[in-house]
Amino acid sequence: MAGVQSNKFPRVKSGIPGYDELVDGGFHRGTVNTITGSSGTGKTVFASQFIHYGVKNSEKGMIVTPSESAEYLKREMSSSFGWDFAGMEKEGKLSIVDVTDPVLRLQKSIEVDPVDFLINFRKLVERKLEEVKPTRLFIDDLTAFFMAVEAPFKVRSLTDDLFGTIRSSGATSVVTIGTAFGMNQFLEYGADSATLLNRERIGNNLIRSIYIMKMRGSKIASSIRVLDISDEGMAVSSLSPYP
Ligand SMILES: Nc1ncnc2c1ncn2[C@@H]1O[C@H](COP(=O)(O)OP(=O)(O)O)[C@@H](O)[C@H]1O
Ligand SMILES: [Mg+2]
Repeated sequence: MAGVQSNKFPRVKSGIPGYDELVDGGFHRGTVNTITGSSGTGKTVFASQFIHYGVKNSEKGMIVTPSESAEYLKREMSSSFGWDFAGMEKEGKLSIVDVTDPVLRLQKSIEVDPVDFLINFRKLVERKLEEVKPTRLFIDDLTAFFMAVEAPFKVRSLTDDLFGTIRSSGATSVVTIGTAFGMNQFLEYGADSATLLNRERIGNNLIRSIYIMKMRGSKIASSIRVLDISDEGMAVSSLSPYP
């Protein structure tokens, strides 16, 4: 039966060793997958590795950086893991959309209504998806954009609009979500899958961990796993942080 299912719903490999086994083979193609965690838990590394793996395997990647500059991301991934996003960009295999770039006229400003800002952001993403036609998309921490939207129902409908735009492009996407602004639950609700990154306190040690909260239409492992980050990147261990 598993074979029949995987033909109907093709899976996309995350590129994170050990992760795909937890979600019955990988992300469903064309879905929106959120990675939630507090600062420094590894969200950007997870999503960058997803893109890097795809581009290395002849896929087209696109990264949208709403909160940090593209330059910063490229420098960080190069110095941490030797991933050459700048080179991939030059070769036309990767497109990085820097929302902090004033040329896009999307600057965060107190004069811009947050709802209008998000509508413009969605249009920008839509335009770039049509232009670049990536098979893999990574949008880095979006939560600050939603923070200024006061009504929860608006957050919900803006999330649905953005995720709907991403899905109709056909790209498989990873969207990272910080926990600082309490927006994560709305964004996770609208996503096809939700993964949580954390730090567990075991005695005097803090251990990185990962847990799959949901994946629509898929079996998921129900256990918390240890998450390792090394010079080779990120990998999910078969061990639980709790002995
Ligand atoms: N080569 C490496 N070996 C081990 N840990 C690393 C390496 N490079 C970066 N890290 C760690 O990875 C983490 C970066 O996580 P990041 O994805 O930026 O977090 P987030 O996006 O959730 O804020 C940091 O804690 C950093 O110390
Ligand atoms: Mg980050």
